[in-house]
Amino acid sequence: MFKKIIAVTALALVSFGMQAQNTVPVYLDDSKPMKDRVEDALKKMTTEEKIAMIHAQSKFSSPGVPRLGIPDNWMTDGPHGIRPEVLWDEWSQAKWTNDSCIAFPALTALSATWNKDLALLYGTSIGEEARYRNKNVLLGPGVNIYRSPLNGRNFEYMGEDPYLTSKMVVPYIKGVQSNGVAACVKHFALNNQETNRHSVNVVVDDRALYEIYLPAFKAAVQEGGTWAIMGSYNKYKGQQACHNEYLLNDILKGEWGFEGVVVADWGGAHNTKQAIFNGLDMEFGSWTDGLAWGKSNAYDNYYLAAPYLDMIKKGEVGTKELDEKVRRVLRLSFLTTMNKNRPWGSFGTEAHALAGRKIAEEGIVLLKNKNNVLPIDLAKTKKIAVIGENAIKMMTVGGGSSSLKAKYEISPLEGLKKRVGTQAQVVYARGYVGDVSSDYNGVASGQDLSEKRTAEELTVEALKVAKDADIVIFVGGLNKSDFQDSEGNDRKGLELPYNQDKLIAQLAKVNKNLVFVNISGNAVAMPWVNEVSGIVQGWFLGTEAGNALAAVLVGDVNPSGKLTFTFPVKLTDNGAHATSTFPGGDEVVYKEGLFVGYRWAEKEKIKPLFPFGHGLSYTTFQYGKVTADKKQMAASDQITFSVKVKNTGTRDGQEVVELYITDIKSSLPRPVKELKGFEKVSLKAGEEKNVSFTVDKTALSFFDDKKHAWVAEPGAFEAIIGASSADIKGKVSFELK
Ligand code: BGC
Repeated sequence: MFKKIIAVTALALVSFGMQAQNTVPVYLDDSKPMKDRVEDALKKMTTEEKIAMIHAQSKFSSPGVPRLGIPDNWMTDGPHGIRPEVLWDEWSQAKWTNDSCIAFPALTALSATWNKDLALLYGTSIGEEARYRNKNVLLGPGVNIYRSPLNGRNFEYMGEDPYLTSKMVVPYIKGVQSNGVAACVKHFALNNQETNRHSVNVVVDDRALYEIYLPAFKAAVQEGGTWAIMGSYNKYKGQQACHNEYLLNDILKGEWGFEGVVVADWGGAHNTKQAIFNGLDMEFGSWTDGLAWGKSNAYDNYYLAAPYLDMIKKGEVGTKELDEKVRRVLRLSFLTTMNKNRPWGSFGTEAHALAGRKIAEEGIVLLKNKNNVLPIDLAKTKKIAVIGENAIKMMTVGGGSSSLKAKYEISPLEGLKKRVGTQAQVVYARGYVGDVSSDYNGVASGQDLSEKRTAEELTVEALKVAKDADIVIFVGGLNKSDFQDSEGNDRKGLELPYNQDKLIAQLAKVNKNLVFVNISGNAVAMPWVNEVSGIVQGWFLGTEAGNALAAVLVGDVNPSGKLTFTFPVKLTDNGAHATSTFPGGDEVVYKEGLFVGYRWAEKEKIKPLFPFGHGLSYTTFQYGKVTADKKQMAASDQITFSVKVKNTGTRDGQEVVELYITDIKSSLPRPVKELKGFEKVSLKAGEEKNVSFTVDKTALSFFDDKKHAWVAEPGAFEAIIGASSADIKGKVSFELK
């Protein structure tokens, strides 16, 4: 008997020991296929745990499953830096002292680099910052197309061209996700204005939808492999985009096979049933006054919380959709918080500041440079006048959800002063008063911008300073306050605010060496364009803004950025405004169809102020003859175009070579030409390089709305090489058999 007990115990121990080796549950075993892990975790979860997982528990987090060791999800804005910590239940600052980030340049500046390597550097760097702060979802990048220059959030996006945006978003995502942090590409889809953003129903034809507004999202999913996507606030086909049968079920998850998580924009969910059935996976930001609703836990009242659980309990809905949502969230956890191999990240580092600076330097666009007014020749310059509020105003604070608490921010004036040192005198005059506010959502810039002098006094001072300077650098443009480059509202017009136009025209009269630096994420009207010598597009450049601008202004860096959206002369030169369809009311009809940006200008033969793809350099480039390897087309359905580009100046520089394709004859209307390739090449003074582009049928295709398919019609095409969409350097025709 005794022996028997020992034997049984031994057996139990052995089997216990064996079990101990095998007890790593499948879901925790990262040698197991993702699908098995997900199913294993799913089957261990209660319905309540599943419901908890798909909605917020605080402003920016949602619960994991503590019982199973699955951590919470923590989201952060996005897309230009890691947002400072807010309170659990309120938008107010949590007042952490260790959450000051590196502010990277706005995405408009990134896209203006036309440099995919820099998009990767951006993504990697911001991903490291997110990881260090223990956020596993970065709410960005934004890829909504620039339809109108009045959209208050254009600065958070990458311009008007679907091809360029697609190419730039992919490396950004890969960089972020290499840190075990999910990118959450936003705002899906058709969120092209802020006016009535929560309610406006967007009416757009399928061609424009597929050819213009969706490609960047598709690239994010299929090439970038993004782990999350944020739904947008607006409606499409009368349904909110955050739970939209067409956009989410049919296109995103159906046609594109998206396996990641659809996150609602904050407050973008409106209805439990639609949220259950129409593709939403995680709900955030609903009833954002949190506990003020007087419930013990307001989050329980989210559409995908108690109301959903109730419906399940009453048998009104099944659990198939719930399981599908939870599968996606679990996959997100396995890829991020539960990825044992993810790196630790780093935050506020010099390396990140320098990455931001590099991106800023390459994103700055030289729009005009009459008589080579730039770069400032410090050997000959005694006095530099810097005028304008944006020379001193911090721009990382403000503008909505992308507002940051930056570790530091170098203003244009500071940057220039530091760079010029004692080589010349730098004199500043404010010139005008714009926005004196110096805090946003509880983050103070620390600046006192109050001004006692009258507008007239400021003008008099500016003119005096300008008059006896060798060169005048006017740093103006927009800022991040309401109705400018800011979330929640659109701009009211194309013109510069605060009477800057008048001041610039006056300054031009007293000093011909006037350079206008436009700090903005949008095009502005420039009625004085012929009166100034230089124009620089200076964007919102983040932490290193002033250093980057100074480097370009004095010529340490040869500018190589190019515009990613058209600057129209006047508002009605833009398709959305020519058709009087911006911003609409309850509904906005995209009457210009696929003719967005340069596609509209070229169709209507309108000469823009500055065309898409435009940007000058301090050196000159000469383009050779464009050739095509036509034999290849017949053999492989691919074709390669080549062109030699030579730096014919005396400075090293970089040139963005742009490839456009024209469909000579087509059964459906097509734009005059469309960007289908670009390459940024570095050329030493005197150096020549061969630049080549290989394209396949995708570059020749259009979306046939009748067939609901992409088609490349046989026939004649033209490949056009340009230094901008308007500066054509050569063409070659070819045929698709
Ligand atoms: C914005 C999103 C942002 C979210 C969270 C929303 O208002 O539209 O872009 O990520 O807030 O702050």
